[in-house]
Formats: sequence, structure tokens, C-alpha cells
Amino acid sequence: MTRLICCTSAKGGVGKTTIVSNLAAALTDFGENTIAIDANLSTPNLGLHTGMHLAPRTLHDVLRGYYPLKFAIYSHPYGFKIIPASLKLSDIADVDVGRLPEVTFSLLGRANYILLDSAAGLGREALSALSAADEVLLITNPTLPAVTDALKILKIAQNTHIKTIGVVVNRVKNTDYELSKEEIEEILGIPVVSQIPEDPNVERCIQQKKLLFELYPNTPAAIEIKKLAAFLAQRKYEPPKTKENIFSRFFKIFKS
Ligand SMILES: Nc1ncnc2c1ncn2[C@@H]1O[C@H](COP(=O)(O)OP(=O)(O)OP(=O)(O)O)[C@@H](O)[C@H]1O
Ligand SMILES: [Mg+2]
Repeated sequence: MTRLICCTSAKGGVGKTTIVSNLAAALTDFGENTIAIDANLSTPNLGLHTGMHLAPRTLHDVLRGYYPLKFAIYSHPYGFKIIPASLKLSDIADVDVGRLPEVTFSLLGRANYILLDSAAGLGREALSALSAADEVLLITNPTLPAVTDALKILKIAQNTHIKTIGVVVNRVKNTDYELSKEEIEEILGIPVVSQIPEDPNVERCIQQKKLLFELYPNTPAAIEIKKLAAFLAQRKYEPPKTKENIFSRFFKIFKS
């Protein structure tokens, strides 16, 4: 069975591409065949996040009918497959975004997981990515604007009967001005299934076009993404005991 999961947000820049690229790697670690699709056709970043930005044939070529899909599927060194989109502005012309569901469904049976990295907003691109999926992971930051925008795309997903897996709260800093998990659940009415911390290694990896799991597999954001993959795939995952964990445990004992 293939699970088709759209990672969407309505608000831009909340971490969809970061989560799709690293979740693909984390699912691969659990032995799940995974394909990541850059469904963000106007401002695609998945190729850049994964070092696959120079791919000669892209999803744009497929949607324009220039190539069959099989020519735009690449193997990432980590072990998952990726369908990148073109970075060229000129390639947006003549792209039939409405073909995205048909193209995605043609991959059914070829992977355990297909992850769609959606464009932000509520436009045709984002809606097309939603309708190419059976399930949705709502990505947000713990801020009121991001959660308010998330509510809109959630309502659309619910009206179209796409199963909502839950909310992934990214860039959690645990400050007193952030929305708490409980507040986000109350606003959105669905469970928070993952809280990914603010982690400077995320930006370090993007600058090097590498995955967290390639450079910093035990950094806090990577551990939370691995937990999310374990939750999705219903696997057991024991996070490594980091220096921080030992230190904070010692600190707790010392305080008590
Ligand atoms: N957990 C994190 N810790 C620190 N920085 C993060 C984290 N997640 C994402 N970022 C930073 O946020 C920025 C936006 O991330 P990303 O490109 O994944 O968002 P997006 O939702 O895909 O954006 P867009 O809507 O433009 O497609 C990146 O520069 C990335 O480094
Ligand atoms: Mg993105």
C-alpha cells in the first residue's frame, strides 16, 4: 500500500521542505521505500535542500508533457527517490498544475510513502498538491499568524475529506510568547503529532545542500523528525542519549 501524504501549511517558510526532505530520509532509515515530490512549482526548494537541484529533467517537464514521469525520478544517495522541480522561472510557463494528482497517482504501488512538498498559500498549486494526496500533515510554527493560516488549509482539507494526520509544530523555541501545544490543538481541533525544535543545524545543512541525517543525525531536530517517521510507520524508535540529555538529567537530580 502506498501512503500519499501532503505536507502543507498555507503560511510560507514554516518548514515544509525541511520536513519533507528529512522525513523521507527518516522513513528510509525504517526501511520504507519513499518518494519525495517537489509539488511547489513556483518556488521549489526540495532540489536545493537535497543537493538534487541540477537534475536535468524535472516535474515541470513532466507536467508540460515533455517527458514521461520515469525520466524525472532520481535516486538520492540516502536511499529515497526524489522528483525535483525546476528552479528556472521560464519553466513555469505552460505547466499544467492540474495534472499533479494524475502524475502522483501513477506512482501508486511504487513506494510505501509518497511525500508531497506543497507550495504555501491557498492557490491552485497548493490545492493541486492537496488533491494529489490521501492524507495531510499540517506544518506550522508556534505563532498566531502561522496557526491562523494553517486553519484555512485544514478546513479545505477537511471539506475535501482528506484524512488529517495531525499538526507538526516546527521551530519550537519554548519561549513564553509562543503558542503552546494545547493552544494549537484547541485552535485547530486536531492533535499535534510532532514538535520540532529550533535547531541551527537545519540552516547549516541547507547551506550545504545536505540532509540533517547526512550531517547531524543526532541533532535535536533530526531526532524529532525520526520520531515523527516512527509514529507514521508505527515503528519503535529509541532516541540516542545525547550529551544534553545526560546533562539535563544531572541538572534535574541536582535541583531536586
Ligand atoms: N527546525 C528548524 N530550526 C531552525 N531553522 C529552521 C527549522 N525548520 C526550518 N528552518 C528554517 O526555515 C527556513 C524555511 O524552511 P523551509 O524552506 O523548509 O520552509 P517552507 O515551508 O518549505 O517554505 P516555503 O513556504 O517557502 O516553501 C529555512 O531557512 C530553514 O533553515
Ligand atoms: Mg518549501
